[in-house]
Amino acid sequence: MKRYLIGLAALLGVAASPALAQDYPTKPITMIVPFAAGGPTDIIARIVSEHMSRVLGQQIIVENVAGAGGTTGVARAAGAAPDGYTIVMGHMGTHGAAPALYPNLKYNPATDFAPVGLAAGTPILIVARKTHPAKDLKEFIDWAKKAGDKANNAFAGVGSVSHSTGILFNSTIGTKPTMIPYTGTGPALNDMVSGQVDYMTDQIVNVVSQIQGGNIKAFAIALPERSPALPDVPTTKELGLDYQVSAWNAIFAPKGTSPAIVAKLSDALDKALDDANTKKRLAELGGVIPDKAGRTPAALQKLVEDEVARWTPILKAAAANEKK
Ligand code: MLT
Repeated sequence: MKRYLIGLAALLGVAASPALAQDYPTKPITMIVPFAAGGPTDIIARIVSEHMSRVLGQQIIVENVAGAGGTTGVARAAGAAPDGYTIVMGHMGTHGAAPALYPNLKYNPATDFAPVGLAAGTPILIVARKTHPAKDLKEFIDWAKKAGDKANNAFAGVGSVSHSTGILFNSTIGTKPTMIPYTGTGPALNDMVSGQVDYMTDQIVNVVSQIQGGNIKAFAIALPERSPALPDVPTTKELGLDYQVSAWNAIFAPKGTSPAIVAKLSDALDKALDDANTKKRLAELGGVIPDKAGRTPAALQKLVEDEVARWTPILKAAAANEKK
């Protein structure tokens, strides 16, 4: 009978009833990661979901649905049954930048989701292949300007974090490289380590270990303060570059998911972010753990609205600069 009711709720596209919400979850939950495996979104999803699944008493299965700068997987999550069994790890690109860059975006980040909570802040670094001739950011900028479209800038598809922060960086320094698309910055980083692409602007959690291992170069972190995970990497502020940007990752359920289910997911996320092992793993990778007030569904809803408003004019200008 219960299975019939769940099926009916899914069929009608309505939220699960309070009785069903009380039992939730009774089966594994799918967390869509809208990028390739091994990249920053995947890393954060796997770290956070491990403890969340312990709290919820059910497995959380990460499913990588890459394509179109993360918008394919996020659109799939937006259209899933609002029963708590499909959630998505979105980020500043899919839920902040994409509306500026996709005139026909298949979802509205602010109205098509039930926000669950912010999982981590992810500062942005300007990184390059280790064989790159530049020794520091100034030399890199001179090189990029001279190289023009002979320079290769890897990115994870239009609207991704690496795309939006990349076109902003390129317009800030006044250069137009050839943009090389990937299904995520995981595979892009592999190509950078093997020297096939020149540079990218990427989230810290993806690049920390390759920087520490000397497999790629880090010219700057786009923050006012250095990161404790990479204390030797200077900030763009120190280096006098007006380019400060940080990304974030957050969990969303489809719109219509019952508040009781969202509360259970949000509580599991909160507990995961308080777990010593989860905190340690995120901190080692340079992830910034949100404070309690920043983890709530209401705080995430406001963040999405603020980010869409903030990024839209900046990215429209940067995208126009690319086309000139
Ligand atoms: C990824 O997981 O590959 C990224 O978050 C890509 C990006 O947005 O740059």
